[in-house]
Amino acid sequence: MNAIEEFNQRKTEFIAKSAADIKFAETTRRWLELANRYEYSYHFSWLSRPIIQYPQDIVALQELVWQVKPDLIIETGIAHGGSLVLSASLLALIDYSEAIEAGVILNPKKTHRRVLGIDIDIREHNRAALEAHPMSHRIDMIQGSSISPELISKVHQHSQGKEKILVILDSNHTHEHTLAELAAYAPLVSVDSYCVVFDTIIDDFPSDFFHDRPWGKGNNPKTAVLEYLKTHPEFEIDQTIPNKLMLTVARDGYLKRIR
Ligand SMILES: C[S@@+](CC[C@H](N)C(=O)[O-])C[C@H]1O[C@@H](n2cnc3c(N)ncnc32)[C@H](O)[C@@H]1O
Repeated sequence: MNAIEEFNQRKTEFIAKSAADIKFAETTRRWLELANRYEYSYHFSWLSRPIIQYPQDIVALQELVWQVKPDLIIETGIAHGGSLVLSASLLALIDYSEAIEAGVILNPKKTHRRVLGIDIDIREHNRAALEAHPMSHRIDMIQGSSISPELISKVHQHSQGKEKILVILDSNHTHEHTLAELAAYAPLVSVDSYCVVFDTIIDDFPSDFFHDRPWGKGNNPKTAVLEYLKTHPEFEIDQTIPNKLMLTVARDGYLKRIR
């Protein structure tokens, strides 16, 4: 075994051990509950745009995007646009590295790798900031409900001709809405790519935790994922990702398209 294989084997063994450690799981659950009380997911930004994600999930997205090398990332839920800028910047790095490998000078404005964001309410100040951002030339946005038939059809049209598509669902977190988003957008995911469903964590919190929201225990992205998977064997939950992250809002939400 060479040094790299040894490193990887040790890493895999420790991830498996940590995932099986009940004390670690309970400490993590408690940590996540406290973090949620302090709106931890709102405390970060990516290239100056507020991003409503945990740093651990951001690292996981980086690993996935680099692995899949999509030419289109579709995201529901824009908010301040941090996650769109994250996706766009990762696509920019793929283009940059491919240009270096090919020995050509990259014209960043001519790239075909793009991000499509959908939100029911793109606030004017967020739209203006995104349009002024250096990554804006890779970002398209559509305003409307992600489950309206007109919008779904626009997204499908936009996806035509794209070879590798990755989807991220992070809008309204009710069971019904997430299930409708899965039905609309998961079929666009390419084989070996991912549909990432955020906020499955809602199911792990006490019933009264989200008292001011339409979602909660038993009615959230996790229940939608489990329902969707019953009739969609082309997807499986990639547990290797949450097993190493531990701190994630998307346990059971990293769905890999396997066929
Ligand atoms: C959690 S935020 C998105 C955070 C963003 N993905 C990020 O990482 O920074 C949820 C967003 O979903 C949007 N939203 C809520 N209901 C929606 C719907 N029916 N269709 C599309 N977007 C919706 C909200 O307007 C809000 O901006």
